[in-house]
Amino acid sequence: MSINNVKGTHDIIGKEAENYGYVENIMAQISSFFAFQPVRPPVLEYSELFVRGVGESSDVVRKEMYTFLDKGDRSLTLRPEFTAGIIRLIVQNKLIPVNELPLKFYYCGPVFRYERPQLGRYRQFNQFGVESVGHNSPYADVEVISLAYTILQSLGLENVVIKINTLGDETSRNAYRNALRDYFKDKVANMCEDCKQRYELNPLRILDCKVPEDQMIVRGAPKMSQFLSLESQKRFLKVLDALREMNIPYEVDDTLVRGLDYYSETVFEFHYTSQKGNNYGAVGAGGHYDKLVHEIGGPDAPGVGFSFGVERIVNVLVDDGLIDNNPGLNLDIYVMPVGEESQARAINIADDLRLLGYKVDMCFDNVKLANMFKRAEKKNAKLAVIIGEEEIKNDTLVVKNMATKEQFEINVDDMEEKIDAMFTKKHHCCHDGEKEDGHQCCHEEKEKHHRECCEGDECECQKEGK
Ligand code: HAM
Repeated sequence: MSINNVKGTHDIIGKEAENYGYVENIMAQISSFFAFQPVRPPVLEYSELFVRGVGESSDVVRKEMYTFLDKGDRSLTLRPEFTAGIIRLIVQNKLIPVNELPLKFYYCGPVFRYERPQLGRYRQFNQFGVESVGHNSPYADVEVISLAYTILQSLGLENVVIKINTLGDETSRNAYRNALRDYFKDKVANMCEDCKQRYELNPLRILDCKVPEDQMIVRGAPKMSQFLSLESQKRFLKVLDALREMNIPYEVDDTLVRGLDYYSETVFEFHYTSQKGNNYGAVGAGGHYDKLVHEIGGPDAPGVGFSFGVERIVNVLVDDGLIDNNPGLNLDIYVMPVGEESQARAINIADDLRLLGYKVDMCFDNVKLANMFKRAEKKNAKLAVIIGEEEIKNDTLVVKNMATKEQFEINVDDMEEKIDAMFTKKHHCCHDGEKEDGHQCCHEEKEKHHRECCEGDECECQKEGK
């Protein structure tokens, strides 16, 4: 019986894996322009970190963690998110007291949540995110929102909707929680079991309920904005003003509360519906937190960050044709040994060509030349290099330009020069108009061309970029 992957996980293969690398590289590069540095916390943490950090009333901790006892009876959890682990790393390594603040870190890797799998929702998925820890400036919030927005723009996602809200400071939230308790007091008995628990643990979480009947009740609940302290209102206005000045579009959404317990003040989500109409949910989200560092044993220090769901971002990019999911290899050169005896020579040549900087593959099957050409086409190879008995004897190679179908013989000793010329890395004069070494000269006037090439001027076809 075959063994399949675990429900909610997915294999990422070939070109798709390249796409993940491409997206994560852009995210990392732009984060480093914003002076964030990489960190790699472990996947495994003590369960208590998330119970205390992410919060007992969050769905993530109540229902979605992959928690188990190790052989020493310690309760461990596969991280359901990064933020708590990053703060643990900062606190444990005593980074706050000895560094200029905020500390700015970015991270990327798999996270695990036992959720119901559906479009854009997995049980193992990848997050890329940042945390800016130790400074209370509203502009630290603006900086991370701007970073996230720049990343999404650089990937080509033009129509991102940034939903933003404020949860206020602790005083504002306590007042709001009390108001919600009052509002839901005589309604909660008719709501779902989850909401009954949420009512006890943290009535703010009821606002996140996805049960349609409960959502109707939630619609009439008081709004956070009615309970904001003056300080929190001012702080939020500074964030919104700065975003406006920086031409970062946003929509204030006073129903946005986020599902993790550590947030205070600014919270935000990035939404994008692909042109195909697929809505994968938020492609990223984050916010400010006041108590998390202290909760995990550190000093009183705030932070702000966001995480992208890499799967969701790759999916929308593929949907909108912004990256290609075609499994083609886009080879430079396909090396084709004719006959089994030529294979040892072929692997040598393939190796030499790779050292010259080309993307090279070779055929290991003893098949007909026509068959090898088909493979070269499938791999989008630009050149085919053919090596048979004759070529080994004469120390030559037959090179075929797959696009123009031109084919010629070269000496192995001249391989670097001739192959480079075919890729127009180096321009070699096609003396007297003869296409000496693969340079695709299209110039008619031989003499003029020879003069331009050999007397140091660019020839016409170089000027035209051919
Ligand atoms: P989160 O909203 O739980 O926030 O997750 C961030 C992003 O991860 C989501 O917007 C979504 O794109 C992606 N995501 C979440 N669950 C799934 C899933 N089951 N399958 C695929 N993608 C998913 C956090 O994790 C916070 N730590 C963000 C943060 C950083 N806040 C402050 N700093």
